[in-house]
Amino acid sequence: MHNVHISTHPLVRHKVTLLSNQDTDHKTFRELVRELTRLLIYEATAGLPLREVSYHTPLERATGQKIAARIGLVPILRAGLGMVDAAVDALPHAEVWHLGMYRDEASHRPVSYYNKLPATCPDDVVLVLDPMLATGGSASDAIGELKRWGARSITFVGIIGAPEGIVEVTRQHPDVPLFLAREDRELDANRFIRPGLGDAGDRLFGTTAQEAE
Ligand code: PRP
Repeated sequence: MHNVHISTHPLVRHKVTLLSNQDTDHKTFRELVRELTRLLIYEATAGLPLREVSYHTPLERATGQKIAARIGLVPILRAGLGMVDAAVDALPHAEVWHLGMYRDEASHRPVSYYNKLPATCPDDVVLVLDPMLATGGSASDAIGELKRWGARSITFVGIIGAPEGIVEVTRQHPDVPLFLAREDRELDANRFIRPGLGDAGDRLFGTTAQEAE
C-alpha cells in the first residue's frame, strides 16, 4: 500500500514502545503523544509545497522558501486533542478545526457528536489527527466529512493502526496518505487493537471508561 507510511525512525520506535507500556503514567503518556506527534508531523509534511521568497540577511539580499499552503489541523475528539499542541508547534499558522466522534460500544461504528466546520474549507492541506486507527470507521467517516466540506488534500496522522483499519481507510480513501508510528497485529473480538495501548483518550485525560447515564 504505497500511501501507508509506518515510521521506521528509531526515535519513533522507542517512544511508541514506552507509550504502549501499561506502566506509563498519564503525564508521561501525554508527553510521549506530543513527542511522537512532532516526529510524525515532520514525516507527514515532507511533501508540502514551497514558494520562492526574497529577503535580506543582515549582510545581503537572499532567496529562500516558505510554505505555500494554508494548512488545517483536524483533531478527532477526544484523543486527537492530545496531538494538537505538538502539531501547532510545528505548524504555527495552521487553523484548528474539531470533529467529535465516539465509537458505539455495541456496533463499534463511529457516532458523530460535534462538527462546527465553517461553510467552506479554507485550507489547501488538511491533516487529520487521531492516535488510534482500529476498525478505521472514525477516520473514514471523518475524511468523508472533510471531502464533502471541500478539502482537496487530506493526510491522516495517527500513532497506532490495526491492519483492518489501515485496509478500510485506504479502501474508502485511496487518495489519503496515512502516517503512523506503528502497525499492530490485529483487532480482537471487541475491536480493540492488539497489542495496542489501551484507550488513548482515557490514558491522555486520566479517565477510566464509564457507562453513559
Ligand atoms: C477511539 C480513537 C478513534 C477511534 C478508533 O476513540 O481515538 O477515534 O476510537 O476506532 P475506529 O477506528 O474503530 O473507529 P473513542 O471512540 O474511544 O473516543 P475518545 O477519543 O473520546 O476516547
